Amino acid sequence: MTDGKRDTRLAQGGRASVADHDFVNPPIVRGSTVLHASVADMKERSRRYRNDEAGPVNYGLYGTATHHALFDLLSELEGGYRSWAVPSGLTACTIAMLAFLRAGDHVLVTDSAYGPTRRFCIDMLPRYGVQCSFYAPTAGNELESMFRPNTKVLWLETPGSLTFEMQDVPRLAALARARGVVTVADNTWATPLYFQPLACGVDVSVHAATKYICGHSDMLMGTITCNEATWPSMRETLFNFGLIVSPEDAYVALRGLRTLGVRLRQHRATAERLIDWLLAQHEVERVLYPALPSDPGYSIWQRDMSGASGLFGIVLKPDAGGARLDALVDAVRLFGRGYSWGGHESLLIPVFPERSVGASAYLGRLFRISAGLEDVDDLIADLQLGFSALRATATQR
Ligand SMILES: Cc1ncc(COP(=O)(O)O)c(C=O)c1O
Repeated sequence: MTDGKRDTRLAQGGRASVADHDFVNPPIVRGSTVLHASVADMKERSRRYRNDEAGPVNYGLYGTATHHALFDLLSELEGGYRSWAVPSGLTACTIAMLAFLRAGDHVLVTDSAYGPTRRFCIDMLPRYGVQCSFYAPTAGNELESMFRPNTKVLWLETPGSLTFEMQDVPRLAALARARGVVTVADNTWATPLYFQPLACGVDVSVHAATKYICGHSDMLMGTITCNEATWPSMRETLFNFGLIVSPEDAYVALRGLRTLGVRLRQHRATAERLIDWLLAQHEVERVLYPALPSDPGYSIWQRDMSGASGLFGIVLKPDAGGARLDALVDAVRLFGRGYSWGGHESLLIPVFPERSVGASAYLGRLFRISAGLEDVDDLIADLQLGFSALRATATQR
């Protein structure tokens, strides 16, 4: 699908559940109990459920027309077989592991994975007899020696959402597939618009839809898209845990997808203007953004992704970190000091990457910007305030 085609699908897709010549959007169908016309109807719907056939369901847990409008569009955009939504991005990550792991198994996780995903692997999985090891995010064939006979899942996140390393997804996924290992990718940064991990050999793509898909910092949601081979295990796990979102949330996420293309183009344009300005400040050592030609991940980004979002990292020179960085962050007025990203409002926070494979080189001097939809000149004026405060701190010392 070309980018133009993707924009068309964002606007038009996921409408199979809406009758022709009716409202543009699906109705919000709320419901737990489904009424059946007869015992034959009950049997027919149960048969559909057992065989995982599309069509009328027999209970609300399996999704209403509103949910399936969202799931259909996600599957189309990701090039997947089936999609589902869960109450947070973190739930999407943890359930995507639980679906494929049993006691005695091992999971290989990129060291750049989102912090709470890492913590789940370190704190929770061992309780269930699953071992985890971390690998360097930029690993290539050297990852081969890290697979164990009991490795069942390879976890990718590209780029990492704090340190922005690009991963060689086709290569890593091929190593995993050759060993019968399921590959899962956290695709939140690129969104389903700009990267299709399943086309690169990944089995499952997850998103914190909380970020760009929903796009307005007003809800939490995770999405999961599977290929045909992995869907049965995922489906079994989702239904055994009883996981779904409210139809209202599904509706909001679908509405978010409709404007994803235009929002992302603006997020990126603003990010690039901010990056130009930041790179001209003498306290800035480098900017972490794979769409920058000077970024080490640029060639992989250019090969695999069709666009970039508006989240990036800024590394200050060693003498500009610590309390001076805090002064910068405290001084900005338009940028919000808040976790998460991908909303309409710009955010700026110091970040502290956790690492298992060697320490992060940037500790104490790394901050992250989520470029929002405000006027970019206003944002630059706000950054100017931040840098003035940082410089004032130097003068006081
Ligand atoms: C890359 C990534 N994955 C997953 C998550 C989890 O999403 P949520 O906050 O919806 O649980 C986040 C949240 O910041 C994230 O940055």
